Amino acid sequence: MSTSIQISAPGKLMLLGEHAVVYNRPCLVSAVDQRMHVTLELTTRDKFELNAEDVNIKNYQKPLSEIGGGEIPKGASFAEMAVKNFCEKYQLKKGIKITTQSQFSSLFGFGSSSAVTVCVIKGLSELTKISLSEKEVFDLSYKTILDIQGKGSGFDLAAAIYGGTLYFVTGGKKMEPLDTKGLELVVGYSGVKADTVTMVNLVKEKMIAQKKVIEKIFDYIAQLVEDARDAILKKDWRYLGTLMDYNQNYLEELGVSTEKLNRMITAARKTGAYGAKLSGAGGGDCMIALVSKEKQKLVQEAIQNNGGQILELAIEAEGVRFEE
Ligand code: MEV
Repeated sequence: MSTSIQISAPGKLMLLGEHAVVYNRPCLVSAVDQRMHVTLELTTRDKFELNAEDVNIKNYQKPLSEIGGGEIPKGASFAEMAVKNFCEKYQLKKGIKITTQSQFSSLFGFGSSSAVTVCVIKGLSELTKISLSEKEVFDLSYKTILDIQGKGSGFDLAAAIYGGTLYFVTGGKKMEPLDTKGLELVVGYSGVKADTVTMVNLVKEKMIAQKKVIEKIFDYIAQLVEDARDAILKKDWRYLGTLMDYNQNYLEELGVSTEKLNRMITAARKTGAYGAKLSGAGGGDCMIALVSKEKQKLVQEAIQNNGGQILELAIEAEGVRFEE
């Protein structure tokens, strides 16, 4: 039996439906071709060991009996809780050493925590020869996310596991692949790191204060996602862009966009993008613009001129996989 394994999972971009998807609505998400790489090793040492330099975790160690307890540094929490959940569920009592290395910065909001969680659970199942279906990997990963964050839809886990582009409903109630061939995106990073939990809580407070209004907004967003799915099937990029613009308006109503994101989005629209919106929790992170090949350069320049950093990447990437 092998005691060490290398595995990787992609980051993700939300296309439409963020926030509403936390409240039982659908979203569209695509995996991106920038990956989180994880090395997992079963050891004879009675401890959990972690190195994750991207998030400032160096030689972090804990006795197996204390795993998941006490103070856990933020950068270690997803790997540690994923190990805890796997070991508890499958009665694994072995030392585990994990090293993570990301091709993308954890600042971009591409879902590095979810990608790590998926790699740890899938990797441990391979090392221990406990065969898990993709849905079982999803369910245990989703439990891990909820244990740490309390709330979340799990859409980023689905992208990390299945790859491609998915029509996804909260908690994995639906996860259906969608062919987005021909869809061209420009991705701009706002330079501001957003905290997903803070943004989700901000919307939660609004939901408590103005439930009827926010539920209506989420219903409208859900309709946009349904229409966007049809537009993608028909490859009607112009209409998909319009739907993205509407989605952005609702996100602004929810108070999760920022002036910087708005400037980048407006600049993209003015230079000929079919549509543009923030992608993810808001409060910073990235925006996306849907473009034709001809307009791509112009839109990129306009975003840069408004303080955005262009991230060169492709969507529809492969899901979690073992590496040589
Ligand atoms: C964050 O990238 C997207 C949210 O919808 C949260 C989630 O779906 O878990 C805001």
